[in-house]
Amino acid sequence: MRGGLSSSEKITIPKIAEKKRKSEKITMLTAYDYPMARIIDQAGADIILIGDSLANVMLGYPNTLPVTMEEMLHHTKAVARGCQRALLVADMPYLSYHIDIKETIRNAGRFIKEGGAEAVKVEGGKKRAEVISRILDLEIPVMGHIGLTPQSIHQMGGYRLQGSTLDQSLTLVEEARLLEKTGVFSIVLEKIPEELAQIITQEVSIPTIGIGAGRFCDGQVLVVHDMLGFFEEFQPKFVRRYANLQQEIGNAIRQFFSDIREGKYPSEKESYHLPPEIASALKDKVTKDNGDN
Ligand code: KIV
Repeated sequence: MRGGLSSSEKITIPKIAEKKRKSEKITMLTAYDYPMARIIDQAGADIILIGDSLANVMLGYPNTLPVTMEEMLHHTKAVARGCQRALLVADMPYLSYHIDIKETIRNAGRFIKEGGAEAVKVEGGKKRAEVISRILDLEIPVMGHIGLTPQSIHQMGGYRLQGSTLDQSLTLVEEARLLEKTGVFSIVLEKIPEELAQIITQEVSIPTIGIGAGRFCDGQVLVVHDMLGFFEEFQPKFVRRYANLQQEIGNAIRQFFSDIREGKYPSEKESYHLPPEIASALKDKVTKDNGDN
């Protein structure tokens, strides 16, 4: 139990499973810092993901590959401090689960022990089944992620739609079944046709969370900076913008600078004042001192 929430309010792994059974849609959003985590948590997210998209949207890297364990952990800790209700999932960054099992399970464990996460996410299907099962042995819940996996950008040749041929789509159905068998508690389906996502969603008993995977997944996730419009130039088809914060924040900052330049900020009300008698005594004293010198 976190921050005084009753156990009936806190979102847990069993509650995520129950949502699929009850056909209740699962809401998930990324967060990377304390203030955004607080807002998303208080708005009622079921799952908050500290995505490795941290690399792009917070740290300015060109893709997700450079982000390190230390960077991910730093942001996971901040998000955990702002999150009381949602289930907290941390993304395992590139190379944190690829080298050897010992390093993989230590990294997964660090997200739980140091970061305050409650689960980790691992990209990939069949190739990752072994590491996923070893992470699960540590009692760490794992979220799978198939379809477009951004850590495979070089092999995939860009952020392309996945699963659009019969062979590719059958492989993805198989990967989803395998991930379920391995024991993941849910699977992110990224950038695949909705017909395929619908079949996968029917074929597995664990929840699917779509991002660019159409209408029929058990839940949906977006990168928070995308749905809030932080990057005007970035607008894939599946991103719906609920705000245009790049423009709104830019306007607010321009207004602030203009108020400073025009002497409109701060106003008298935004300033601290001395009691009148002290102000006048101070003025007299300084004037007298200046006269004496
Ligand atoms: O890193 C990320 O943001 C993700 C998505 C599923 C949103 O993996």
